[in-house]
Amino acid sequence: MKSAIQLISERISQAIQKATGQNVPAIITGATDPKFGDYQCNNALALAKQLKANTTLRSSDSLRSMSPRQLAEKIIAELKIDDICQKPEIAGAGFINLRLNPEFVAENLREIVSDKDRLGIEKIKKSQTVVVDFSGPNIAKQMHVGHLRSTIIGDCICRTLELAGDKVIRQSHRGDWGKQFGVLIAYLQITHKEKLQKPGSVSINDLDQYYKDAQAWCDRDPGFAESARREVVKLHNNDKDTLRVWEEFVRASRKHYQPIYDTLGINLNESNERGESFYRDKLADVVTDLKKQGLAVESEGAVCVFPEGFKTKDDEPMPVIIQKSDGAYLYATTDLAAIRYRINELKADRIIYVTDARQKLHFEMLFKVAEMAGWVKNTELIHITFGSVLGEDGKPLKTRSGENVKLKELLDEAVKRAKSVVQEKNPDLADSEKEKIANAVGIGAVKYADYSNNRTSDYIFSFDKMLAMDGNTAPYMQYAYARIKSIGRKGQEKGIDTEKELKGIKEIYLENNTELELAKQLIRYGEAFNSAIADFKPNFLTAYLYELAQKFSSFYNACPVLDAEPKIRPSRLLLCDLTAKIIRHGLENLLGIKTIERM
Ligand code: ARG
Repeated sequence: MKSAIQLISERISQAIQKATGQNVPAIITGATDPKFGDYQCNNALALAKQLKANTTLRSSDSLRSMSPRQLAEKIIAELKIDDICQKPEIAGAGFINLRLNPEFVAENLREIVSDKDRLGIEKIKKSQTVVVDFSGPNIAKQMHVGHLRSTIIGDCICRTLELAGDKVIRQSHRGDWGKQFGVLIAYLQITHKEKLQKPGSVSINDLDQYYKDAQAWCDRDPGFAESARREVVKLHNNDKDTLRVWEEFVRASRKHYQPIYDTLGINLNESNERGESFYRDKLADVVTDLKKQGLAVESEGAVCVFPEGFKTKDDEPMPVIIQKSDGAYLYATTDLAAIRYRINELKADRIIYVTDARQKLHFEMLFKVAEMAGWVKNTELIHITFGSVLGEDGKPLKTRSGENVKLKELLDEAVKRAKSVVQEKNPDLADSEKEKIANAVGIGAVKYADYSNNRTSDYIFSFDKMLAMDGNTAPYMQYAYARIKSIGRKGQEKGIDTEKELKGIKEIYLENNTELELAKQLIRYGEAFNSAIADFKPNFLTAYLYELAQKFSSFYNACPVLDAEPKIRPSRLLLCDLTAKIIRHGLENLLGIKTIERM
């Protein structure tokens, strides 16, 4: 179904067309203050300017001389909108303020109630194939806090695109073919030869430690560094024994990642793994093709491409190195092979990369090379970036000893802290129940805190803030949900069959202002969804849900529900029920955060 903002936009466009003969998209935003209404149309100002300039838009003399206010009046005169809004008003320099009719709101509410699975979220007309490249940790190392954002933001993007109706292909582009394997194998050959023989004998913890030791060894001993290098060459030449050990490392890493994904509610599993190794037999061809086209050239022994428009500080053309003088391929080579594969084999209409902002230049240059090579025809390449997770001191979050905080430890700590909150608030619950709540709250809090920040900014990680019961946090939202769910149970105690009353509802009453405000928020779910997906910003969803919970709270404080007159009780129950459904849908389906029936 169409959201109110879409309907309004259509009507405004038609009115502008009639009033000025111009075909321009409507510019409608939510009102800045409920005093002014629900939406505002901002077209008149820009339009008056454009008409006056008489360059992009051609028009008559009389139109050209109109002020924005006069233009707004002319638009209103042509506007047919009384089935949706009250009489439009002009404000300030020429804004048109619009306030929804309660009848329209009630009708819309009814439509959303019957739209059980989507709750007002529209399906997009033309479904696309979208590859989402997210959560690509480097194998043989534990996941740390730096992997949190790509993993959860990527997952949210996939969930929203899927709901919108796209075919989403999730790919975890793992660093599983790099030099760390040479270092590790060389190290194990000297220190733990027996482990190389015995499958299942190395864990991710071992690997993490070995890698640190081995790396230090490399740094102080050129002989060892050379043997590490020889081992990678063997791997890259598909030496059988080396491959076997490599697979062992990949398995050990997977065994570590999967439970983290499961805990976080991330839809990723073995079938989504498309690590760098996946492209290993496609790399030579990338170089050949780029050479044949004259794009790749030898430069200081290496093979490089110089994408148009990229300059070094010294104003020299900036290279993308695709093959080193010793024949080795690089991160960028693999990424170029991946682009080709995703376009040609997976038929991607869009490829979305979710990594931190430090890789911005890498992707910009990559996209340019792919474009110059003629590989990209109708595919849209998008890099979605995000800021860093900071500690309370405002510096990237680290342990006391200065190491990266391990993701598993961070999540365990969140659950532990949530448990003590539950224990304090609800000591009488059964242990299994406490466990369940603590898991939902702890993990939910970490995810929600991340989502609720604008993804492009850094944010400060604070357990106290994210676990607070008030404010824009997961526990607040989960509590709001549980509180609504308790209404049905309380009804039962009072002998009121809330389910039956809901089913038998005849009329929707939005007479109290808090009822109307809540209802207006309920019918905006689709709108919030659209703005979140337009810019891939989960914080639009959390902001919407938070506002919904607040509006519910005002309504619930002002309007009795179970004790309401029998005539209006079903209508109020409906507002409660729909609020719970949308909170649940938003948290679970879009953000992958669990709700709890009682807290
Ligand atoms: N492994 C990379 C890293 O740890 C992330 C991969 C991102 N995806 C890509 N296609 N390059 O930084």
